[in-house]
Amino acid sequence: SSGRIVVVGSANADLVLDVDHRPSAGETVFGSDVRVTPGGKGANQAVAAGRLGGDVTFVGCVGDDDHGAMLRRSLEAAGVDVGHLRTVGAPTGNAVILLTPDGENAIIASPGANRHVTPALLTGSRAALASADVVVVQLEIPLDTVEQVAREARSARVVVNAAPAATLPPEVLAVADPLVVNESEAAVLLGEAHHGMVPAGSGPAGTIPAGSGPAATVTALLALGPRSVVVTLGGAGAAHAVAGGRTEHTRARPVDVVDTTGAGDAFVGALALELARGADLGDAVVAATGVAAFAVGRRGAQESYPHPHQLSG
Ligand code: RIB
Ligand code: NA
Repeated sequence: SSGRIVVVGSANADLVLDVDHRPSAGETVFGSDVRVTPGGKGANQAVAAGRLGGDVTFVGCVGDDDHGAMLRRSLEAAGVDVGHLRTVGAPTGNAVILLTPDGENAIIASPGANRHVTPALLTGSRAALASADVVVVQLEIPLDTVEQVAREARSARVVVNAAPAATLPPEVLAVADPLVVNESEAAVLLGEAHHGMVPAGSGPAGTIPAGSGPAATVTALLALGPRSVVVTLGGAGAAHAVAGGRTEHTRARPVDVVDTTGAGDAFVGALALELARGADLGDAVVAATGVAAFAVGRRGAQESYPHPHQLSG
């Protein structure tokens, strides 16, 4: 059995193009036909947890358009409660994704309807937030909404995924249990990189100053005030610690990388599910690492997330 999970966040139609390489300024490159697939960090996380059997409610906004209908269908098919998915007078969010042969991506997010996920809109979901066991937020919605979630979800465990990279106010950091980031997002939170310098996708270890390593990153992040921290390390797995505790490292099983888009969201969704089921953080990280590994082996974001029977051991 699973506790109740509420994901407050973004929903995007991903417009995916395969390219040989990302264009630089003034350059034109040819891409494949555009694939339109369900994405957005919030919806991705909700779908990941729902498909694995979680009791999940998604709070978000889409437009009155085909993209919004696609996202609603994808959430519903994963068993996610869409009673708090509003249709608003703005186009559904988009993400233009350039996918290179190494499975890495560069993303331009156009928020659209996600801008309507405001603190005012959240008041309509107060009861859902109050009855949640685990609440999940990310940063493709207005920051004041994330702050409002941190205030209102006090009785729930709050999973804060600081993606895309941004610094966070102390009130949000203080409730994070865990704060989940990849290495480049960690660097931004720690003031070690500027937005413009952060590579898209899961960043190489080089974005953290040499010699620091994941354990030092986890320790530095804990000093910002969260109750626990998880740093995802791409193919190297994840490092985590609870405030006051030792950092532990979870290895990922080797996979052929097809498409890393939304792999971090698969991780967060699976982590939230395990926490809602009462797992401790270490066991939740192990499960989430396996789910993320599955997702990088397949194309797309939500489309690449596993059903329970597809996960081995
Ligand atoms: O984290 C991956 C997601 O981020 C994609 O689905 C895309 O929508 C972008 O917002
Ligand atoms: Na994928």
